[in-house]
Amino acid sequence: MIKVVNVVGTRPNLIKMAPIIAEMRCRDTEIAPLLVHTGQHYDDSMSGSFLRELGLPPLDINLNVRSGSQAQQIAQILLAFEKVIQEQRPDWIVVVGDVNSTLACALAAHKLGVRVAHVEAGLRSHDRSMTEEINRILTDRLSDLLLTSCADADENLLREGFAPRSIVRVGNVLIDTLTQNLKRAASSPILEAWQLQPRQYAVATLHRPQNVDDPVILNRLVAALAEIGRRLPLILPLHPRTQARLQEFSISLPEQIRQVAPLGYTDCLKLWSNARLVVTDSGGLQEETSALGIPCLTLRENTERWLTLQHGSNYLVGTDPQRIFAALDRVLQHPASAPTKSPRLWDGQAAGRIVEAILSFAQSPQRKLRPYAGSALFAAGAAE
Ligand code: UD1
Repeated sequence: MIKVVNVVGTRPNLIKMAPIIAEMRCRDTEIAPLLVHTGQHYDDSMSGSFLRELGLPPLDINLNVRSGSQAQQIAQILLAFEKVIQEQRPDWIVVVGDVNSTLACALAAHKLGVRVAHVEAGLRSHDRSMTEEINRILTDRLSDLLLTSCADADENLLREGFAPRSIVRVGNVLIDTLTQNLKRAASSPILEAWQLQPRQYAVATLHRPQNVDDPVILNRLVAALAEIGRRLPLILPLHPRTQARLQEFSISLPEQIRQVAPLGYTDCLKLWSNARLVVTDSGGLQEETSALGIPCLTLRENTERWLTLQHGSNYLVGTDPQRIFAALDRVLQHPASAPTKSPRLWDGQAAGRIVEAILSFAQSPQRKLRPYAGSALFAAGAAE
């Protein structure tokens, strides 16, 4: 039996962790899972509602770290999570994605000699000005088991010198959650409530610091979204960061943009899966739209999700209105496409492969990568 601490901090972490925890709970003779929330996201609409809707078990521990500068957030999570490791003494921790919570918990665990499994390892935008890129690179460096979603992630890791035996391609766990919830999402009344017709509206999301923390870029993107909103109804569920910046810069949204509060997972899924197109700077939505066959205009100059570009549904348009409108024209001139074949291993079964990989790695002595004798866990004076 191995004890595993699973870490979540933000909304996308919860979405990816739900099927992993469910799978671990099915294998409770081999694995004892704990769920720890750092509290990086704390509004009910960003956290609590997702815990309930996705059927996650009650949190075992909430570190309640909340917002702050990046350094404050990471430092507070490090300190709080170190105590969790010392008290709980897990065999492994599992972290997902690329947020500050992912990096901070991986670092605290590694320093105490506890093994780290990183889900969604190896993705690279090659843009080191992006805080998530640094989180990805450093988390991978701290991890013993690198669980990847696609071939280019494997190639990135091999190029960076990781041992092939530490890399396991498990597929995309975000798509597990999506496929498990599509049926339930079909019964969401959100389209009727908002008088939207399937395939006749667009959905936008916006929250990256590069896009919303600079008033010039934010103003430009608001104008571009308003123009899209003139062509077809446009819904914008507003992230707390974006809401705060709009207020700070005194930018009001024009009437062509229908602003709504952050939505729960089921309503989100109903909304995306019936949209004519999605306009976003989110990482996860690039993948979800690929799996659903929905055209996606990505408001970034690069992506760590290269597979979504090769797959054909994702258009990298940056923040230049000319590029955004050219892609919009291209998408609107073609009939809405049916879902295309999903990328390999984006099949709804990734969580099973993740848990299998952790168990086989934990059980196989020749796969141990680091000696743990004299672990700092004990040097730090944890109670016996
Ligand atoms: C974080 C992740 C980002 C991810 C996103 C998903 C990092 C560096 N960034 O960005 O990669 O795509 O989550 O949503 O980890 N706030 C609230 N309530 C909340 C949470 C945040 O009001 O529940 C506000 C606070 O003012 C906070 C701001 O949003 O300062 C930003 O939150 P933060 O967690 O720092 O980063 P996100 O922009 O959410």
